[in-house]
Formats: sequence, structure tokens, C-alpha cells
Amino acid sequence: MPIGRRSRVSDVPLSGLTRPSVRDRVLAWLSRPGVQSWAARNPLTRRIARRDGEALFDLVAGFVHTQALAALLGTGVIEKLADRPAGLDQLAFSLGADPERLQVLLRAGVALDLLRQRRDGAFALTRKGAVLPQVPGLAGMIDHHSVLYRDLTDPVRFYTAPADTELSGFWPYVFGAGAATNPQTAERYSRLMSESQSLVAEETLAAYDFKGTQHLMDVGGGHGTFLKHVVAKHKKMRCTLFDLPAVVAAADVPDAITPQGGSFRDDPLPQGADTISLIRVLYDHSDDTVLALLSKVHDALPPGGTLLVSEPMLTGSKATDVYFATYTLAMGTGKTRSPAQITELMKQAGFGGSTQHKTTRPFITSVLSATKDS
Ligand SMILES: C[S@@+](CC[C@H](N)C(=O)[O-])C[C@H]1O[C@@H](n2cnc3c(N)ncnc32)[C@H](O)[C@@H]1O
Repeated sequence: MPIGRRSRVSDVPLSGLTRPSVRDRVLAWLSRPGVQSWAARNPLTRRIARRDGEALFDLVAGFVHTQALAALLGTGVIEKLADRPAGLDQLAFSLGADPERLQVLLRAGVALDLLRQRRDGAFALTRKGAVLPQVPGLAGMIDHHSVLYRDLTDPVRFYTAPADTELSGFWPYVFGAGAATNPQTAERYSRLMSESQSLVAEETLAAYDFKGTQHLMDVGGGHGTFLKHVVAKHKKMRCTLFDLPAVVAAADVPDAITPQGGSFRDDPLPQGADTISLIRVLYDHSDDTVLALLSKVHDALPPGGTLLVSEPMLTGSKATDVYFATYTLAMGTGKTRSPAQITELMKQAGFGGSTQHKTTRPFITSVLSATKDS
């Protein structure tokens, strides 16, 4: 990977115990209760101590923050205030809510910087609050988090022992080729994906230059949202949309895009494309499935053809290493991988290596490409 950030967490597992370093010993001393209270009073260290304390409390309270966010959306407060500012009583009346309880939610919204209270007492949206319903896919994501949170009710068990999860039942298509034959399941999933695809498409198109591509096939392309972005920018490019038959059947795509139904698990991939993209596909699947898919992509490409992978990858950020890694773990078969881990699987599938293309928002996606030897 010629370009790219160094991930803060190594992919190499270390077996056995290690000796504490000087840094480990200093940190252990600093974490003693007596030292902590001294640091909180000392003029030289109190700012750092306070900042650490606040950051820790943010972690402690994170679940409550996200539930308040869900309630601000779910009650309709954000929608009402997007229309016009309103007072507590007015909001309580129009939402049929208990004013005392609603006031707690509104104050929480102000503290979370989603709402603000004007001098006349009315509540209004802040910039973040106004953007929230406009971000494609965000409201749908927040809405279905209740499923993920139920899986996380026992976090110790969740992170230490394999278990059946409700989220895996929510996305049953991952488990086999036949699972997405239920059109309602396929539709629910594809809509959520399609809504959030615009941001991923923007990042991918800004990071990767399709100049040499004549025929692009997007495998696992859902409703074709990514390809629609591509053909809007590259008018002459031929595009093939490959996804499960039930998904492709519901895709409404322009003439420049040819839909092709099939399963990358059971069917060979269609030949003819000089570039094959996998957008947010690999992180749904186990290493075995990913390796088999990458090998099929390698077989389907002509010599000199290109594989493009775009999805959230482990970059050391909270969005990728906490959120996406946990989400894909809850999906059961999924796995958020580092660029190096994906590159290793690409190599095993026959590609020589990969190039990382820098994106401005790695919490939305990271981009890798690999070329088949000529
Ligand atoms: C996470 S979604 C990504 C969709 C789209 N690329 C995006 O980023 O919005 C994964 C896609 O892979 C498709 N998929 C899953 N299993 C598949 C299979 N066996 N064959 C073909 N497509 C499959 C799903 O139907 C879904 O559209």
C-alpha cells in the first residue's frame, strides 16, 4: 500500500505476556487515586486532568446521548423545529408529550448542541441539528440501532463469546444466496444502503480516478446508486450492476447501466468489465467468503484490469474501530478490516498488492485498488 495512514492498532497478534515499559509504569502511577486528586488541583496539570475527566464521562454517558438523539428524531422534535422554532408548551401539545419529561429531552438536545434556546425561551435547531435529517441514511441508521443495542445489552459477553444476534436476523441475506429472495427484506436493506450510498459514492469518486475505465461492473451494487453517480460523471462509461436477483429486480437504473442478477457465492461473475468495484461488500462477510469473492473478481478481470474496494476500514478512529467493527461483529459473519488485512486477502486471491487512495472522510469510507498482472 504505497499511500495511507499507519493504523494505530497493529494487525499482528502478539502471543504471550510482555514486560511493562517505562511508559506503562508511569501511566500506572498516574492512575492511582491519590495522584489523580493531586493532578486535579495542581495548576500545571489540572487542565489535562479536567479534559481527561470530561472525555471519560463522555464515554460513560455515550449510550444516553445516542438515546436522546434517537428520541429527538423519534418524537418529531427535530422535524417540528426544522419547520419553525417553538416553545415547550407548544411542542408538548403538538407532540402529545408530557411537558416535564419533554423539557428534559429538550435540555439534553441543547447540551448535545442539536438544539438551542432563544432569548424568548423558544427552542430552535443548531447547525448540527438542522443538518441531521438532511444527511442521507442517517435517520434510518439511528432508527434501526435499537436492534444493535439489544445485542449489546451484555457487552462483556458480546465482546468475548460468540453468540446469536438479533442484527444477524435483521440482515439475513448475508448468510446465503437464497436468503434475499424475500423481496421485503431485500427492499428494507437496499433502501437503507442506497440512502447512505451518496456520501460513499462522493468520497470514492473524489479519491479514485476512473479515467482509464471503459466498462465498470459494480458487484453487490444494490439499487445502483453508486453506478448512477459514476455515469453522471463519466457519460461514456459502460456499467453493469451485479447483485442478487431480488435486489436487481427493484433497481431503477438508466440505460447506461445493465442490471444482471446473480449470486457471487454460487455463480461465476460476468466477464467483460475492465474494472470491478466492491462498495461496502467485503465488510459483510467472513474471510473465506471474501477470499472466494476476490478470486472470482480476479478470474473475471482481463490482464491489467482493476479491482476497486471502497468501505469503512480500520483506521484507528472511533467511527471505524469502535462503531463499524462492533456493528459488523454483531452482524455475525461480518468484519471491519484494516487496509493491510484487505490487501493480504487480495494477494491471496492473485493480485500483486494494492494502492490506497486517500479519502477526506475515512469514517465514511476508505478506498483501495489492485491491478491484475498483465
Ligand atoms: C452492504 S450492501 C452494499 C450495497 C451497495 N454497494 C452500497 O454500498 O450501498 C451489500 C450488497 O451486497 C449484496 N449481496 C449480498 N450477498 C450477495 C451475493 N451472494 N451475490 C450478489 N450480491 C450480494 C446485497 O444484496 C447488497 O446489495
